[in-house]
Amino acid sequence: HFRTREPGPLAGRHVIVTAGPTQEPIDPVRVIANRSSGKQGFAIAGQLADLGARVTLVAGPVALDTPDGVDRIDVETAEQMQAAVAAALPADAAVLVAAVADWRVAAAAGKLKKADGPPALTWSENPDILAGLARDPRRPALLVGFAAETSDVVAAATAKRARKGCDWIVANDVSGDVMGGDRNAVHLITPDGLESWDPAPKAEVARRLARRIADHFAGRG
Ligand code: CTP
Ligand code: CA
Repeated sequence: HFRTREPGPLAGRHVIVTAGPTQEPIDPVRVIANRSSGKQGFAIAGQLADLGARVTLVAGPVALDTPDGVDRIDVETAEQMQAAVAAALPADAAVLVAAVADWRVAAAAGKLKKADGPPALTWSENPDILAGLARDPRRPALLVGFAAETSDVVAAATAKRARKGCDWIVANDVSGDVMGGDRNAVHLITPDGLESWDPAPKAEVARRLARRIADHFAGRG
């Protein structure tokens, strides 16, 4: 089947979205992961597509259906996510919602055995996909990060925006029942300042952010 759509305000724009957690292997059967359902990122990808954008969704391991009209690339690790984002460039905008594991460990080739006792893990830092994109010669014109914070949410996110070099940051208060839930309390921090949004279902947060991005490209904010 097919349906005809209005072109939409983001027609002709390419947007990359990252979503979900990453998983870093410890051995062939065990991983280190972040807590993320992927719901918010998937909802944003779907809303951007509804506004006419071509959307590349780079997704960590999640149990979610691909939103209509979205090109999805599945990855597991942070390094794979970074490579998939780089391969998807150029883009007009990137919205990095994924909860990327900050560290990985040197993975054992074979399954670690319980009888050998708790393993000593050798840690290294993962690439920062957002900060790397901010410095990339092919940096998207609009780079949006997310900051999941449990305290001093706005201050922490404001500092993170500056540190990472992104244009906007969506500060997500995860002190309550947000992880895996359906509602989000968010603040949008842009060069123009702070917008605090009423707590809303993730689908509504996605709609607002997608419309905000469309308005930006239309020259309205
Ligand atoms: N991010 C990323 N690559 C990483 C870590 C984070 O692209 N290796 C992105 C996330 O997708 C998000 C933003 O950076 O858009 C902020 O992630 P967050 O984990 O809050 O930032 P960190 O700098 O890792 O700080 P923290 O110590 O609070 O985890
Ligand atoms: Ca982090």
